Amino acid sequence: MTDAIVARGLTKVYEKKITAVDHVDMDIPAGSIFGLLGPNGAGKTTIIKMLTGLSDITEGEARVAGFDVRKDPMSVKSRVGWVAAEVILDDDLSAWENLWLQARLQRLGEWKDRAEELLRYFDLSERKKDKVGGYSTGMRKKLEIALALLHQPEVIFMDEPTIGLDANVRRMLWDLITGVNREFGVTVLLTSHYIEEADRLCDRVSIINQGKFVASGTPTELKSRVKEDFIELDTSETVTAEKLSSIPGVSQVSSEGKTWRLRVASAEEVLPNLFHALKTDGIRRINVEKPSLESVFIDITGTRIDQAGSDVQDFRKFYLNVRRARR
Ligand SMILES: Nc1ncnc2c1ncn2[C@@H]1O[C@H](COP(=O)(O)OP(=O)(O)OP(=O)(O)O)[C@@H](O)[C@H]1O
Ligand SMILES: [Mg+2]
Repeated sequence: MTDAIVARGLTKVYEKKITAVDHVDMDIPAGSIFGLLGPNGAGKTTIIKMLTGLSDITEGEARVAGFDVRKDPMSVKSRVGWVAAEVILDDDLSAWENLWLQARLQRLGEWKDRAEELLRYFDLSERKKDKVGGYSTGMRKKLEIALALLHQPEVIFMDEPTIGLDANVRRMLWDLITGVNREFGVTVLLTSHYIEEADRLCDRVSIINQGKFVASGTPTELKSRVKEDFIELDTSETVTAEKLSSIPGVSQVSSEGKTWRLRVASAEEVLPNLFHALKTDGIRRINVEKPSLESVFIDITGTRIDQAGSDVQDFRKFYLNVRRARR
């Protein structure tokens, strides 16, 4: 199988000497769904921007849909689509007018048959003349994907496609993404910080932290790297690392803020010992993390994906959520 995306030593240093992406390699087979999983500020969007020619590559090289991104950015741009996290639909226009606008922006000559096909596929044909402002969130998502597919791209990039969506719409979108991948044979690169999303959707995942890939593989391969469970607990002040280490079955103790994290062979076997040693009034909160992409991340970085990078302020996402909530 040919690769839709190949990158070697891909690096981005922003002006203030921030290394956002640090020597990343990628080989993404055509027709697959690839996930970039990582916390806020990890460098996910920057990778997409470099691969789509929107941001200069500081160092390294990348080929997308068979073309060198640096040498032939226009050929790349005509073969990729981008479903942005930002809302791109014009609420005052109908679905058909949004598609027309997209065709104009992309300078497409023939687009109407394709547009009709996409509307049919996404079940929007009957509403195509209605203003998008009156659409449900699910319908808007469908139309956003249809716009990205209008020029028949070989690769589509989806930057956090499900952020801010409720669980039902998120699941619907997962089905849409796998459907589009199969139906149109399009390669999908998506970014996410939802563990379950990457696990469910992606053929292969790279976990990214502070600009570097810290692990890559199929979700199953990655999960098999960590065979142990983690128990996280918040306790009263009297509990010490020594005390936790002495509990039978606990192989490692670390702490992050007020939370202890115990690495154990089997949570089921250790929990009774833990309750016995600490008594229940010493335990304020307890959480068991079975092998998952999250535990792989914890294993490598010592922190959870949703905690890593949480100090990065993200007003863009805040406004996005506000805009979605107002609908
Ligand atoms: N235009 C820019 N100028 C300077 N620094 C930037 C710029 N864009 C991003 N950065 C920095 O580069 C790093 C990576 O940012 P990026 O947006 O790629 O992360 P991300 O993984 O997409 O995060 P998020 O999950 O919050 O979207 C961050 O430290 C960010 O502050
Ligand atoms: Mg981003």
